[in-house]
Amino acid sequence: MAKVLVLYYSSYGHVETMASSIADGARAAGAKVDVKRVPELVPAEVAEKSGFKLDQAAPIATPEELANYDAVVFGTPTRFGNMASQMKNFIDQMGGLWFSDALVGKVGSVFTSTATQHGGQESTILSFHTVLLHLGFVVVGLPYSVKEQTTLAEISGGSPYGATTISGGDGARLPSDNELSMAYSQGHHVAEVAAKLAG
Ligand SMILES: Cc1cc2nc3c(=O)[nH]c(=O)nc-3n(C[C@H](O)[C@H](O)[C@H](O)COP(=O)(O)O)c2cc1C
Repeated sequence: MAKVLVLYYSSYGHVETMASSIADGARAAGAKVDVKRVPELVPAEVAEKSGFKLDQAAPIATPEELANYDAVVFGTPTRFGNMASQMKNFIDQMGGLWFSDALVGKVGSVFTSTATQHGGQESTILSFHTVLLHLGFVVVGLPYSVKEQTTLAEISGGSPYGATTISGGDGARLPSDNELSMAYSQGHHVAEVAAKLAG
């Protein structure tokens, strides 16, 4: 049984919701799954004033824990077309894991959320992949066998690089069924690949 960690940061809850579907998909593929968050860096009073979703049930992870998993699925909202600093700060504490080759050969995969349809979903995921390759992860995306990503019937996130959602400028749009279905499939796919690699 593969051990999968869904590790995310979310200010307003969109990535949190996607993380839940990723986890469901991985569990359905037979994996043992944990869902955890990286620590917040914004001061509590600023987070509250900015309307951050403060009631997130997922426990906070430590970088060292990543060595215990066969796969890590990373979720981050876009910040100027790149990952959020909360996630990068967490990753920048992985020097010890990098130095000891602790993550080499594990599956790594990324999902994201942007406010606007073309606001940097692909750049966020692909630039995140660069970091995963430095750490030795085997990068897994969302193959085109997951047909929801081909729809033209509605506005939807999702690409071969990974599941995505679109929050809208005011954050009012919630992840759609089509987007959550792709998140589920990404979790399922990651768990299947991780189980094969774990052999
Ligand atoms: C500093 C900052 C930069 C952002 N940059 C982008 C961006 O480049 N493109 C975009 O579409 N949305 C951008 N956003 C919007 C966030 O990506 C959006 O709030 C997020 O996807 C919602 O996910 P969450 O609810 O999980 O936090 C930015 C938000 C902030 C606060």
